[in-house]
Amino acid sequence: MSEQSAAPHSAQPVQRKILVTGALPYANGPLHMGHLVEYIQTDIWSRFQKMRGHQCTFVCADDAHGTAISLHAEKLGITPEESVARINKERIADFSSFHVAFDNYHSTHSEENRELSSAVYLALKENGHIASRTITQAFDPEKKMFLADRYIKGECPKCGAKDQYGDNCEVCSATYSPTDLKNPYSTMSGATPIDKESEHFFFKLSHFDAFLKEWTRSGTIKEEIANKLAEWLDSGLQDWDISRDAPYFGFEIPGESGKYFYVWLDAPIGYMAAFKNLCDRTEGLDFDEYWKKDSPCEVHHFIGKDIVNFHCLFWPAMLHGTGYRTPTTVSVHGYLTVNGEKMSKSRGTFITARTFLDHLDPEYLRYYYAAKLSSRVDDLDLNTADLIQRVNSDLVGKVVNIASRNAGFIAKRFDNQLSGTDCAPELSKAFMEASGTIAQCYEEREFGKAMREIMALADKANAWIDEVKPWTVAKEEGKDQELHDICSTGINLFRLLMIYLKPVLPAMTEKVADFLNVESLNWADSQHLLFNHGINKFKPLMTRVEQAKVDAMMDDAKKLLESMNTNAAPATCQQEVPVKEDHAIVSDVKKSTLEEPIADTIEFGDFARVDLRIAKIVNAEHVEGADKLLRLTLDVGEENTRNVFSGIKAAYSPEALIGKHTVMVANLAPRKMKFGMSEGMVLAAGPGGADLWILEPHEGAIPGMRVI
Ligand code: MSP
Ligand code: ZN
Repeated sequence: MSEQSAAPHSAQPVQRKILVTGALPYANGPLHMGHLVEYIQTDIWSRFQKMRGHQCTFVCADDAHGTAISLHAEKLGITPEESVARINKERIADFSSFHVAFDNYHSTHSEENRELSSAVYLALKENGHIASRTITQAFDPEKKMFLADRYIKGECPKCGAKDQYGDNCEVCSATYSPTDLKNPYSTMSGATPIDKESEHFFFKLSHFDAFLKEWTRSGTIKEEIANKLAEWLDSGLQDWDISRDAPYFGFEIPGESGKYFYVWLDAPIGYMAAFKNLCDRTEGLDFDEYWKKDSPCEVHHFIGKDIVNFHCLFWPAMLHGTGYRTPTTVSVHGYLTVNGEKMSKSRGTFITARTFLDHLDPEYLRYYYAAKLSSRVDDLDLNTADLIQRVNSDLVGKVVNIASRNAGFIAKRFDNQLSGTDCAPELSKAFMEASGTIAQCYEEREFGKAMREIMALADKANAWIDEVKPWTVAKEEGKDQELHDICSTGINLFRLLMIYLKPVLPAMTEKVADFLNVESLNWADSQHLLFNHGINKFKPLMTRVEQAKVDAMMDDAKKLLESMNTNAAPATCQQEVPVKEDHAIVSDVKKSTLEEPIADTIEFGDFARVDLRIAKIVNAEHVEGADKLLRLTLDVGEENTRNVFSGIKAAYSPEALIGKHTVMVANLAPRKMKFGMSEGMVLAAGPGGADLWILEPHEGAIPGMRVI
């Protein structure tokens, strides 16, 4: 085999030492599509770093502690340890099926974590950052345990609705505190809670005010997150309650019998514990080298937007107060919706990892998420029609097509040997040179952009093949060499695309490496071509997504829901939807899902009643406190303007809209929203997020957005 170098090798980059983590999933339920947004994203980034030749270590663990976990076990009639072990087994199988390749998957209920958590706590105490005081809390006299707010229900103090939680009423939307509830009861036993005193331990977060103000603005987190946290930092940091009373599934606080660490104290330390466990059995991986103050190694956390305060306030403060290094970056992603709806049992949109795997190829999902992910905190929608379309059109129709259009001739006519001539040198050069841009997109977590760059190359390759028509050349006398060169070049272009797609499609790339008969497809391999080289028989790499299989998956998701409703005691722990630990602090970040009900067919008469009008956008502006919305002022003619809120912030900047025309529904009944009255609706096309159009596609798109 010989390999031609068509582009100069770039100088060998410095090898970075990188530790990557995904948030530790609670061990109280099955892995689902929402979780996978995170673990697939993190895995892609970690695989990319490894392909670049860096020393990259990707760790994760089960978050095993807390009341939600022990209650889950109690329902199954087993110990928390048993329940955690069971879930761990299912989870590891799910992760590996989705090709999420952790270097270590540990548990927060581990000896390493106990030691590290105790050491962190004692160091914080030693440094004067721990206080203790007696607080009064609701207590369940039957269960003999203190009750977190979410375990208390009662009647709404405003409208009297029954069975409301202690923070807001689902019927009248009133907000209040748990002590305001009328006739409160414990959801664990039904008993009326009593007030009881207990000594608690607090982390003095206010000691880190100046440090956090600087840390949050030092490039570790995106500005949009820093802005969110600033609201909190500016209103003054409260002490953080880090202890819980027995009975509690967790670690006992050293020197304080009957007191346990609150799960969120030892959970992030679980990142260190998972790494420590790996270091202890891996030559050349040194815990202290990574975690000591001012370490030159990198630590990157990937998390969802609901747990920002724990990772960007408490965690860096704990590390700083203990004398450890702080994270290099914390990358925050948005929340997943399924076909425009929140993931929920009752809507049948709760799809577990296993349900997906029962019907579909995991790499469909990996590609689909990659195509939709950016470095921003936007929510993203798993739209099944869009998934089918993107995978079939991009991967099957564009990428695999290049290989299948050429491989047949190489096999039949040339005994599986590639020729020695690149007959499209300009094109291969462009493919090799794209390596820098694509790498930068991966590095910056602009995966959607990376996929668009790669698909644009695939389009070029297909256009070239259409032009040189190997199938015609094949029929012509004396054109063997030409055919051989065309097909060999085609295979080379395909090879480069697969190198660029490898972080996203590891299994398919492995099949491609077999087909191409090569040892490695690493990033540096994109800088040379493969000629005078024997390849193997071409086997199908990926099949089209079939609508019927997607339908079957959605049916199963609904069935899972039915079985959950009918089984009072679920037979396996796969059937529960996980309960979250208290996350209340950056609360409104979590509640920003676009609700777009998908309707069945309508009659013509229904449609005729809709008053569609071309409206001029006379003003557009951001709405303070809203993650998704822009406020539009629309001129509908006859000096009539309308105020409309539209969930298009991810797709358009306000300036790009002013003065343009759009289509609106002018006779929609006005609707009172949190931010004011909305008097109509603009029509949008596209799957959602940044891919949403209310103008013509070429108008006013945010730079970097896909324009079709
Ligand atoms: N145990 C905590 C994390 C502790 S990290 C020291 C936790 N667990 S979780 O199981 O609820 O979530 C794990 C990760 O998955 C979090 O980053 C969370 O944001 C993410 N997601 C859970 N549901 C999600 C969606 N529906 N959509 C996107 N991400 C979601 O939080
Ligand atoms: Zn109410």
